[in-house]
Amino acid sequence: MKAIIPAAGLGTRFLPATKAVPKELLPVQGLPVIQHVVEEALAVEGVDGVVIVNSHDKPAIEDYFAKNGELEELLRSRNKEDLAAGVEHATSLPVSFVYQDEPLGLGHAVLQAAPAMNGEPFLVLLGDYFVPDHEMCRRMKEVSDAHNGASVIAVGVVPADEVSRYGIIGGKCVSGGDPEAPGAVWLVGNMVEKPAPEDAPSHLFIVGRYLLSPRVMELLATQGPGAGGEVQLTDAMLRLLDEEEMYAIVVDVDEGRDTGTPAAWAGVAARTALEDPSTRAEFLEALGAAADLIR
Ligand code: G1P
Repeated sequence: MKAIIPAAGLGTRFLPATKAVPKELLPVQGLPVIQHVVEEALAVEGVDGVVIVNSHDKPAIEDYFAKNGELEELLRSRNKEDLAAGVEHATSLPVSFVYQDEPLGLGHAVLQAAPAMNGEPFLVLLGDYFVPDHEMCRRMKEVSDAHNGASVIAVGVVPADEVSRYGIIGGKCVSGGDPEAPGAVWLVGNMVEKPAPEDAPSHLFIVGRYLLSPRVMELLATQGPGAGGEVQLTDAMLRLLDEEEMYAIVVDVDEGRDTGTPAAWAGVAARTALEDPSTRAEFLEALGAAADLIR
């Protein structure tokens, strides 16, 4: 099974930096955000490759994953084995590229990867968000396995006044207990991309982790534009509901790290530096007087 990571966006929220540096390469603990997402995808049982949907304007993403034997040799000649191993590891990840050169939407981006899917189920991981313990996709796969390989998406609780920023699902909870508590499983009956609050079927938003039936690719091929004039993955998934079952598992959104805006990215970088014992003390020291601002 392959995983798709859409990465063709302009990164407007991070301009002007993203004139030259794709936002996917902004570092968190020394690794580009996109590598955290690639590692998360490859940790899922059965995933043997990642297809990044890039744009030709962002060759730096490919440069990052490309072999650089000269650099490795230079580092080794200077006894910097750890650094050499890090470089070598990033460039040995099973990553390939397809292209979306026009911003026609998430559904259109995912469709560009169709030829690489071999007609199999596939994962989509949105690249602004990564889950350090890699557990979210594993749990989604468990739910899929328990329901004959059905499509499964991760959803989280969102305040009513923010539903119009996301895809929102409706349906019925098919596991016991609180239907909005992490671990609850829903049989999806409806979904709407970026609804007005009065049109939202629930307060459960699509988090950005999808395990999808190959049929979704066929539906995307005939999917017209939706919200924002873009081809929406949500709209193709909605059509899938007429033909196949789809489940949603409620997750604690805080399991993951959202790097989608400069402030969110800075927060993730700080949190990760604090959580890692090898950087915590130095990071607190670097914050200096600014540490007081946290309290
Ligand atoms: C996309 C999806 C949306 C989902 C969101 C999560 O929207 O279309 O359904 O809820 O990601 O971040 P975008 O953020 O690209 O507008």
